[in-house]
Amino acid sequence: MVMTAARPVVLSGIQPSGQLLISHYVGAMRNWVAMQDTHDSLFMLVDLHAITVPQDPATLRARCYDFVALYLAAGLDAQKNTIFAQSHVSAHAELGWILNCYTHMGELERMTQFKDKSTRAGAVINVGLFDYPVLMAADILLYQATHVPVGADQKQHLELTRDLAIRFNHQYGEVFTVPEPFIPQTGARIMSLQEPTKKMSKSDPSALSYIGLLDTPDVILKKFKKAVTDSGSEIRFDPEEKPGVSNLLTLLSIFSNTEIPALERHFEGQGYGALKVQTAEAVIAFLAPIQEKFAALRADEGALDDILADGAGRARARAEVTLRRVYDAHGFLPRR
Ligand code: TRP
Repeated sequence: MVMTAARPVVLSGIQPSGQLLISHYVGAMRNWVAMQDTHDSLFMLVDLHAITVPQDPATLRARCYDFVALYLAAGLDAQKNTIFAQSHVSAHAELGWILNCYTHMGELERMTQFKDKSTRAGAVINVGLFDYPVLMAADILLYQATHVPVGADQKQHLELTRDLAIRFNHQYGEVFTVPEPFIPQTGARIMSLQEPTKKMSKSDPSALSYIGLLDTPDVILKKFKKAVTDSGSEIRFDPEEKPGVSNLLTLLSIFSNTEIPALERHFEGQGYGALKVQTAEAVIAFLAPIQEKFAALRADEGALDDILADGAGRARARAEVTLRRVYDAHGFLPRR
């Protein structure tokens, strides 16, 4: 095992409440891979959070294996990182409870993600959905994470985590490290292929709006061909006036590793059809080796279980240290 004590501690994760998409790759996974050599990193399968909305057990289980195999296929090394399932480390639920006792109702009522999710038509609102940011704070504080790479939509949750850590430390001394939000400056927000002013999302009811990391070449081509573009015919990067075209240019730029101005020159005199097909081809080519590695990894669930068991063992040992300090701070009796 590598000695990593002096490195900044990074923790992140994605909920297996839908498929992993190219937007997760661009916004999260590729950044994780880039950090694994310089940071002490923990990457989670955020399964406890996934059940804040109803999940079918068989689908959830299959998707959890898909997630772990994709984390690895995308380049995360199970030796360099601690890769684990949130539900395998009971300290998450335990610290979540403790932090509930320090969180004000009003702080959770203000959360914009809760307001969005709970006001959607037909939404089933359970207490877990309301309480979700507190569990997320527990995820982070258990490992004394210093850096938490998240999308902009999670910034408010990070701020709550900081507030809780500060509040707790104020009362009990320096128990928690106050984490920094770390919103990667890729400048690339990946938008829905159907409504390019909205972010690409795994919970979008239309599968045409997103590209899954496991979508087949045929499906990818079909989805790009159906992508909503803008009026006019010029291929120009202009997210205000041309959100659809700009989103395709962003994707093509990332997946073909070509600067956007060079792409604009390349497409002079060509139509939207050419842009769609070439973007699809770049995504298909980029995903091919990841999908190939995925297939090999996914075929051996026992090996994935072993990786998760190893990750959970390491995560548990670290989480327990924090949890004992928290329990002790409250005056709970020592465990013998
Ligand atoms: N709430 C995050 C999301 O939906 C997932 C998450 C849960 C997370 N716990 C976390 C992310 C801890 C970073 C750190 O994207």
